[in-house]
Amino acid sequence: MTSNSSSLDIGPKTLIGVGVGLVVAGGASYFLYRRYLQYRDAMPVNWRRVGTLQQINLFPIKSCAPLDSTPGTEYDCDVLGISHEGIRDRTLMLLDENNTMVTARGYPHMKLIKSKKVSVKGLIFSAPGMPDLEIDFDNLESPGQNLRTIIWGAPVDAMLCGDRFNKWFSQFILKKETGMKLVHYPYPKAVKRVCDDLRNMPFMRKEDSGTFNDSTSYMLMNLSSVDDLNTRLKNPVEPLQFRGGFEIKCDVHEPYAEDNWQWVRIGDEAVFRQVAPRTVCIVPNVNDNTGKRDIDGEPLKTLKRYRMFNYKSPLLGIHLGLRQAGKVRANDVVYVGDK
Ligand SMILES: *[C@@H]1O[C@H](CO)[C@@H](O)[C@H](O)[C@H]1NC(C)=O
Ligand SMILES: *[C@@H]1O[C@H](CO)[C@@H](O)[C@H](O)[C@H]1NC(C)=O
Ligand SMILES: *[C@@H]1O[C@H](CO)[C@@H](O)[C@H](O)[C@H]1NC(C)=O
Repeated sequence: MTSNSSSLDIGPKTLIGVGVGLVVAGGASYFLYRRYLQYRDAMPVNWRRVGTLQQINLFPIKSCAPLDSTPGTEYDCDVLGISHEGIRDRTLMLLDENNTMVTARGYPHMKLIKSKKVSVKGLIFSAPGMPDLEIDFDNLESPGQNLRTIIWGAPVDAMLCGDRFNKWFSQFILKKETGMKLVHYPYPKAVKRVCDDLRNMPFMRKEDSGTFNDSTSYMLMNLSSVDDLNTRLKNPVEPLQFRGGFEIKCDVHEPYAEDNWQWVRIGDEAVFRQVAPRTVCIVPNVNDNTGKRDIDGEPLKTLKRYRMFNYKSPLLGIHLGLRQAGKVRANDVVYVGDK
């Protein structure tokens, strides 16, 4: 038997060799890629001052007014978001008769529902033409009545607060005796929901999606971005309409600078990672003082003209994931981390 093997003959040994080579090369690139991501995801050591925290907004009920609090109030930042002495951001929410989430998209006047803290675990709700209503989280009327709802495609468990609340919110929102249910987020410590649209963002972690929030527990925007937007609008809008947790007043006027902030530290402790840009929906078109939607569709219409990039909705502000817990107050210095 003669062997005529030319250099073009690919024998099993060569195949195995190529295969092993590919696997090794693939493994090495994957390893290097992971190392690169870890490097990009490591907390910076150098921090540069960019401005101060002007305003902190804690929204006890999704789509309603922020907590009415005194200046100088200290807030805690942990994995579930902003909280103040037992009152947490967006741990209350309204559902309709089909257990579907209800927001200011459908009922703009929801933004007129206010909450004020009265005790360690208590709030008072108020709304135009309604008697005040108190909630004590330690003594809810129907504990254990769990139900399941969906926020933007992601299932979440929720707990009913009780008939007293359902009636009050139905009366104000629907002008009826029933139809609305007030529910609260049942897990005091854990995040149980993963936001689908942000799942692929490289720096997004599972726990970043918070409670009843739309995408993440923290949203930051620079007030000059709103100032710049206002120069383009006939009727100026308030920063609150964008429902950001942190409103930053920067030292230098540089609108949209926050787009490029990868790491943000507020005060001495709380450290955040930018995990996604924030896309603007129609809720900002509702005025917080009147509870009415803008008839011209502003500011969304104007934002769509210059802040679309490659997204389906315009961008304003950034979503943050908490990377180090801490306390924050208004006037805290805000730093950006440099690599
Ligand atoms: C609830 O679902 C029913 C049946 O699909 C529908 O007819 C009704 O309009 C829904 N209610 C609301 C408030 O959307
Ligand atoms: C939660 O997400 C919404 C909508 O994306 C955002 O406006 C809000 O600021 C986030 N919550 C906090 C506390 O930042
Ligand atoms: C942020 O907003 C403030 C207030 O409008 C403005 O003076 C500042 O220059 C802005 N800074 C950045 C970095 O965007």
